[in-house]
Amino acid sequence: MIKSAILITCPKGIPPYLKQEILSLGFPVLFETASSVETEGTLDDALRLNLFLRTGHRVLFLIREFEAESPDELYEQVFRIEWQDYFHKDSYLCVTSSVDHPTIKDSRFANLKCKDAIVDRFYKKFGQRPDSGPKRDGVVVHLYWRDIRCRIFLDTSGEPLSKRGYRKIPHEAPMQETLAAATILATGWEGNGSFVNPMCGSGTLAIEATMVGLQRAPGLLRTNYGFTHLKGFNKSLWEELRKEARSRAKKSIDGKIIATDINPKAIDAARKNAMTAGVDSLIEFQVCPFSETPVPEKGGVLILNPPYGARMGEVRELEETYKGIGDFFKKKCQGYRGYIFTGNFALAKKVGLRTQRKIPFYNGDIECRLLEYELYEGSRKGTP
Ligand SMILES: C[S@@+](CC[C@H](N)C(=O)[O-])C[C@H]1O[C@@H](n2cnc3c(N)ncnc32)[C@H](O)[C@@H]1O
Repeated sequence: MIKSAILITCPKGIPPYLKQEILSLGFPVLFETASSVETEGTLDDALRLNLFLRTGHRVLFLIREFEAESPDELYEQVFRIEWQDYFHKDSYLCVTSSVDHPTIKDSRFANLKCKDAIVDRFYKKFGQRPDSGPKRDGVVVHLYWRDIRCRIFLDTSGEPLSKRGYRKIPHEAPMQETLAAATILATGWEGNGSFVNPMCGSGTLAIEATMVGLQRAPGLLRTNYGFTHLKGFNKSLWEELRKEARSRAKKSIDGKIIATDINPKAIDAARKNAMTAGVDSLIEFQVCPFSETPVPEKGGVLILNPPYGARMGEVRELEETYKGIGDFFKKKCQGYRGYIFTGNFALAKKVGLRTQRKIPFYNGDIECRLLEYELYEGSRKGTP
């Protein structure tokens, strides 16, 4: 089977965690950018990556590299690819792209050129063009074009891997699943000690933590991936991999997982999402203000993703909330590593505790920090 470059995209801030995941799955890391990590492998390897990666968004399998100076040259080169070797004429095709080229004002034009070349190739060969459109639930081809360098990939994920399939009810300002997973990996929590998540919203952090604690593959809930529509799809390997993932997963976690929110609708959404993910029996849900969250003895990780005034909540009111989080940490959370994920650094200062680490992340375009507080017995006040 042919080995090729495999580019795995992710949001900014995530490559350090994605790299670690790729290495621990036994793949090399060839290079990384601010929002991707490149490895190599076969199309079969892409199945494993799609199933097990928690922090990657799209697993892109390189099929051709060439130079193009204009949209017409792009068309010519894409037309030359033997597309019928990769998928069937009656497939549904979507073309996506990442383009930075002086001749392209709108990347949709590059997508169109690329799509035309592919369907025209099929027409020439079979007298029939595949259907095409914006949905990513069939074959997805990705074009990367910078200066004169073009790379054509099969997007083996189709829908991004952040869409795990369990979050049917998003509630307010939900974290993307991949970002939640990366923040959990950054805390180092692996099921040891409790995982406490006040202000849980739709439950993303608690659900992702449960999957990390169980060592459950995040891709098990999904059945539709880009690779399932390709000619080279090795169905029996896929079934074997899913079986391996199921048998590797633990049934229980030593520590407790607690998720609370002041809003009953949030807890309702979180519980339903956890049910869809098949982890609801492992999470204790409760409607309460964050300060009344039960905090089990023996320590662990306690993480909050409070509103930070960008998408919800007023900054002035939130100052009191952040100050209250500092008090809650001091009074009730000794023996824990406390974390706050926020995009508002001024509000973070109101917590009034010394940060151990400030880990950079991005939530969409918003620069965020995962702030770590070591909550020893009698944590002292200090500069944040
Ligand atoms: C940014 S959202 C959390 C999103 C969550 N990480 C997710 O992925 O869905 C903040 C949450 O804090 C909750 N909240 C706000 N003030 C609170 C308080 N004083 N006590 C408890 N929860 C509160 C809101 O109801 C909201 O669900």
